Amino acid sequence: MKKDLSKISGFYKLTIQERQALISKLANLTKDEKEILENFGYFSYDQLDLISENVIGSYSLPFSIATNFQVNGRDYLIPMVTEEASVVAAASNGARIARKNGGFHSEPVKSIMIGQIQLTNLSNPDYEKEILLKNKDYLIKIANLCDKTLVEMGGGAQDLEIREISTERGKMIILHLLVNVLDAMGANAVNTMVEQVAHVIKEKNLVKAQINLKIISNLAIYRVAKCSAVFDKDLLGGGQIIERILDAQAFAKSDPFRAATANKGIMNGIDALAIATGNDYRAIEAGAHAFASLEGNYGPLTDYYIDNNENLVGTIEIPMPMATFGGIIKKHPMTKIALKILDVKSGEELSQVAAAVGLAQNLAALRALADEGIQKGHMKLHFRK
Ligand code: MEV
Repeated sequence: MKKDLSKISGFYKLTIQERQALISKLANLTKDEKEILENFGYFSYDQLDLISENVIGSYSLPFSIATNFQVNGRDYLIPMVTEEASVVAAASNGARIARKNGGFHSEPVKSIMIGQIQLTNLSNPDYEKEILLKNKDYLIKIANLCDKTLVEMGGGAQDLEIREISTERGKMIILHLLVNVLDAMGANAVNTMVEQVAHVIKEKNLVKAQINLKIISNLAIYRVAKCSAVFDKDLLGGGQIIERILDAQAFAKSDPFRAATANKGIMNGIDALAIATGNDYRAIEAGAHAFASLEGNYGPLTDYYIDNNENLVGTIEIPMPMATFGGIIKKHPMTKIALKILDVKSGEELSQVAAAVGLAQNLAALRALADEGIQKGHMKLHFRK
């Protein structure tokens, strides 16, 4: 890989055609891939009709590249699909400020998703919980028979948890099946497994309770990406700006009205990457916002503090079920190109990069807000063409 691959100065000054040529060269795109890029992607009528229902056409959005990203010592060109002006420029700017101190550091992300089975009309909750737990290994085995390929590749159901919740319709037992879905988002594998496990619980009469929902949870607490970066004091604009960013962060931590907007900014970048790579951005959004309120109060997904060198350290923690496999990922011509440009080897690596994009996006928004304001700051980035 080319050193400083993503540090492309003046990328925004090039024409679209010049950018296409440069990225095609950097990402070793084939002639066919270049053609797809130049023609803004292509989907045949048959493909479109297979993806959704009642199709009458297709819909295109800008496909951009955010620059300056370095994550865990590696450079990445970040494909982003968004209709919002300044999002790509802001992400590149946040990454530029992090780059001076080594970029972003993302921790490993386990690809564990939760499948839920809801049991209602309990007769003896303690006894029913005990029976389910006693059958844990058996139920995990049943789940794994549903997806031998996943198991052979090192994934599959790995654990089972039992929760009891009180609801307006009485107590319920919620069974959680924990499944390592490897590079997939996991909905298909997990939903198939919980349906089969529920079927066996019923067929074997393991409990008297009634079995109701069997579905994946989008609150992926075991698939959380944690990322941090040191943002240079001088590139941020000095100590006063940092103080104002910290005040903005304190505002978000104490006020859900502000936290919602801060998190929206984070998702500007993550969704754009998710769409470019064919990922389920609705699942990622739902999980992110639920995670932001997991401790009772809705808060920001990032946090900040000043380090010993007076730089600003930013951190983000966010469930990140990003996949490199499944859904339209290997079908959509542009998602295939996006993944080639990004050059990630796994869903885990993509999740690590996505967390960095979210943090860069938040830092850039906070910097602009704490300084000249978003209209002037971000729009200046957008119109610097
Ligand atoms: C706009 O799309 C996103 C921001 O509102 C985020 C923020 O306020 O932190 C600029």
